[in-house]
Amino acid sequence: MSEEPKSELERIFDIAKKDDNLITIGATVDTGFEWQAIDECREKISQNLRVFKDRGKIYFNIPIDDFYKVEELKSIDNVYILADVNYYSYNKKDKEYNFKLLKDSLLKNKSQLDKSVNAWKKFTKFPGKIFPSIEEYEKVVDAHKAAKEEKRKNPADEISVPGRKKRGKEPAAANENDILSYRVSCERSGTHAFESQEVAVNLGGEFNDLYHWIVDLTDYQLEILYKITHGETILHLRVTNESLHRRNIAFFGPTTLRATICYNLLRLAKPKPGEIIIDPMCGGGSIPIEAAKEFPLCYIIGGDNHEKAIERSRLNLAMLPKAYKTDLIKWNLEKLPFKDSYVDAFVTDMPFGKRMGSMSDNRIQYKKYLIELGRVVKMKYGRLVLLTYDRRSITVALKSASDLFRVKKTLSISMGGLNAAAYVLKRTNLSYDSFVSRVKTLVEPRKSSSSSDQSEA
Ligand SMILES: C[S@@+](CC[C@H](N)C(=O)[O-])C[C@H]1O[C@@H](n2cnc3c(N)ncnc32)[C@H](O)[C@@H]1O
Repeated sequence: MSEEPKSELERIFDIAKKDDNLITIGATVDTGFEWQAIDECREKISQNLRVFKDRGKIYFNIPIDDFYKVEELKSIDNVYILADVNYYSYNKKDKEYNFKLLKDSLLKNKSQLDKSVNAWKKFTKFPGKIFPSIEEYEKVVDAHKAAKEEKRKNPADEISVPGRKKRGKEPAAANENDILSYRVSCERSGTHAFESQEVAVNLGGEFNDLYHWIVDLTDYQLEILYKITHGETILHLRVTNESLHRRNIAFFGPTTLRATICYNLLRLAKPKPGEIIIDPMCGGGSIPIEAAKEFPLCYIIGGDNHEKAIERSRLNLAMLPKAYKTDLIKWNLEKLPFKDSYVDAFVTDMPFGKRMGSMSDNRIQYKKYLIELGRVVKMKYGRLVLLTYDRRSITVALKSASDLFRVKKTLSISMGGLNAAAYVLKRTNLSYDSFVSRVKTLVEPRKSSSSSDQSEA
């Protein structure tokens, strides 16, 4: 009987399985920016890194001692260790059969699971016990239950920090004598005989039997996540208990952009040392701040026409270490205070029809913005990276400014369930003055006929 050909992910995982020093990492990425993340991995981890790309995710192997390189990545949101990868033909009716498949695979894969748990301890700096004896477990489990019950009865006032959303509790904050607390969860797509919650309950017990860890559904240090997509079953150990996009910003606005998206947009502009990079509609400053931190050899400017946005940017920028510099200017993008062909790149997140402004405004405004940016950005070399939900308005604007820009790339981005797009434009070598006179010759004949229409009326 011939075996099913292996998927690329299985092949990558198999390589790590055979090497004690390698571990498979899974990272989530804003959908649409996967290639940006892969480029960053190849730049920061290894040029020839073999990466499996899925929608909103990338997977690759790294030597366990090189995890610090993953911590340096700016394009990714959450990081997991892959502890197992399987493709099952789940029984359409028999739940128990399916749970047995999952349980058997834990036993079969135990040594890889142990290796993954050890790597998790190292990556998260968890100082506690990951392989406690049954006696050690029994000594503390009742006290843990009692403490939970006490907490349930007398909940402490939790201080919530705006923009922070931590899962479970910080592994590094544990003590040496603490036994690992964990929970199992399941994300599932496809039709199965079982519910996600049933996987969590059934497999949760199995981990307790195997490792004598303490089950804690809220204050866990380790989240074990089953991602089941039809037959594909990936066992993840969550490394990040907070998405890595939560950085830089302390003062949030109505449309604050995630730092990971800012970084990915900036990468699309390919900033080079010494270049001037501007976000002309910077809101609370998320793009300029990320730019200042990640491209410190560029000169970064942020601007906005709204007083509140400028104030928020100022406050957010004030949180940056002094070494990171950006200038902040209140302006109207329709008339920027720069001479023609001056700026290397503009990277911006445009006012959206759905969350900010209105679609009909955008049709007129986007055209004006694009023409002004076309005036100021460097002829032939200048780049624009524009993020918007309003594809229709940008398409109309691009038609009007087609002599000024070439569209190099269009990326479909999924942001909070909404479809957005990122456009990468390169400035042509037509001077702004020639563009204006070209437009004039095109519109003037119409102007004269419309004025005669008016006089007739
Ligand atoms: C989508 S928001 C940017 C959000 C920003 N990326 C953040 O993370 O906070 C668009 C911004 O464009 C600004 N804006 C709209 N029209 C403008 C104009 N003509 N000139 C300058 N800024 C403008 C708005 O005030 C708003 O702050």
